[in-house]
Amino acid sequence: MENQLHRPVLVVDFGAQYAQLIARRVREARIYSEVIPHTATPAEIAAKQPAALILSGGPSSVYEDGAPSLDPEVLQLGIPVFGICYGFQAMTHALGGTVGKTGIREYGRTPLNLVADGGITHRELESTHMVWMSHGDSVTAAPDGFTVTATTEGAPVAAFECAAKQMAGVQYHPEVLHSPHGQEILVRFLTEIAGIPQDWTPANIAEELVDKVRQQIGEHGRAICGLSGGVDSAVAAALVQRAIGDRLTCVFVDHGLLRAGEREQVERDFVAATGAKLVTADEVDNFMRKLAGVTEPEAKRKAIGAEFIRSFERAVAGVLEDAPAGSTVEYLVQGTLYPDVVESGEGSGTATIKSHHNVGGLPDDVEFTLVEPLRLLFKDEVRAVGRELGLPEEIVGRQPFPGPGLGIRIIGEVTPERLEILRAADLIARTELTNAGLDNTIWQCPVVLLADVRSVGVQGDGRTYGHPVVLRPVTSEDAMTADWTRIPYDVLEKISTRITNEVDGINRVVLDVTSKPPGTIEWE
Ligand code: XMP
Repeated sequence: MENQLHRPVLVVDFGAQYAQLIARRVREARIYSEVIPHTATPAEIAAKQPAALILSGGPSSVYEDGAPSLDPEVLQLGIPVFGICYGFQAMTHALGGTVGKTGIREYGRTPLNLVADGGITHRELESTHMVWMSHGDSVTAAPDGFTVTATTEGAPVAAFECAAKQMAGVQYHPEVLHSPHGQEILVRFLTEIAGIPQDWTPANIAEELVDKVRQQIGEHGRAICGLSGGVDSAVAAALVQRAIGDRLTCVFVDHGLLRAGEREQVERDFVAATGAKLVTADEVDNFMRKLAGVTEPEAKRKAIGAEFIRSFERAVAGVLEDAPAGSTVEYLVQGTLYPDVVESGEGSGTATIKSHHNVGGLPDDVEFTLVEPLRLLFKDEVRAVGRELGLPEEIVGRQPFPGPGLGIRIIGEVTPERLEILRAADLIARTELTNAGLDNTIWQCPVVLLADVRSVGVQGDGRTYGHPVVLRPVTSEDAMTADWTRIPYDVLEKISTRITNEVDGINRVVLDVTSKPPGTIEWE
């Protein structure tokens, strides 16, 4: 089947915001998992040959009109099943147990009491421990053949299992960190009741993905990949390179908005680690011309985006000139990740697109087939695969950096002189944060040059009239929301002292203490 690497544990999404999180937890246990909609038919589910099903939570009551229901046939497929919250109730209902309105709603951290020895899933845990609950209805009688393994004040049946049927379920949410034993319970179900091996390891993932790319591109196909310097495109390119060697050409556009050392890092470290064929397009002057006089953030982003496409186009034309006569490039490598696939509601598979739909403006007569080797992976898995492929830590451990680069971190017009100043300040901040061991605490720390603001200072014996820079350290899980990071004062002091001493033109360092929302991470 398309894209199938291991037999998946399918998380049936009953409309909970937790389905993706459950899939992540399963993968953390080194077992492959995918999310599918609850509308999938028993035949579609069987066709995926799942190793197990996990029925997710959902917002509804099984008695509500229009509540997503579980086709009882799904439970007759001989596939091990684990139900969570609403999925637990739907499973009970379909197997002939009873779901009742107890009138007690449980929400938040709730004490769970084990029944007898807790069965396979809950054995050897404290007889009362905390779990995270969020439900109105409750299971009041387990289906025939099932053993009740735990209970709470509001849920007479808070967990059950039947090893013979390879089924179990819990009323609470084992996937959230507020259920401290949750992961253990999921793993016990998956390994001991469902008998699934924990072999979804970075080495296996890398090997299978390389094989798949080889199959997709074949013996003769050619591909290009735009490298951004970021983790995803680097790992995608490394996988494709492993599969097709120098029939892949990587294109790196140097737009002059990069941070200190970035171009060299890609040219040296990436190429050294992968042996990939790399074309660097030196486009600094073109970008500077397009950015002259532009100050409005959206206008800047548009100018940078448009010029990026022109640069990429020119570079692709160059790649074709160098290839043997008659060659064409049919494939475009993209670093699409699994959360993007789930969020766009897409299934697996590959799409042929006009490249301008994706890259944003290649000529109409150039059509590429997409190669998306990472479309089944989460970010941490991408990093693990990158390490497996021998990419250096400076690349796989990189914090996010926006496509428009330093262009959107200069408030005001972007000029070569201002870029020089910002690059120097940014390098100091990054170096000191790394030296303080904070790289894994911080999601990213933009340094922003307030080029249109001037401030008075005193340095040496004289008055200065320079610019402030802003430090914007944030902590985040996904960049959708973020908090400002509480960096130790001594580290802030070091950064501030070094920047004001070493970077001409900057006489003030300020700290951004705004969360997102209301502030975005970047200033423009
Ligand atoms: P905001 O500023 O929207 O940023 O809170 C959220 C995350 O996205 C990054 N970012 C971008 N990444 N192209 C990118 O590839 C862009 O145009 C862009 N703008 C913001 C930002 O660094 C943060 O991680």
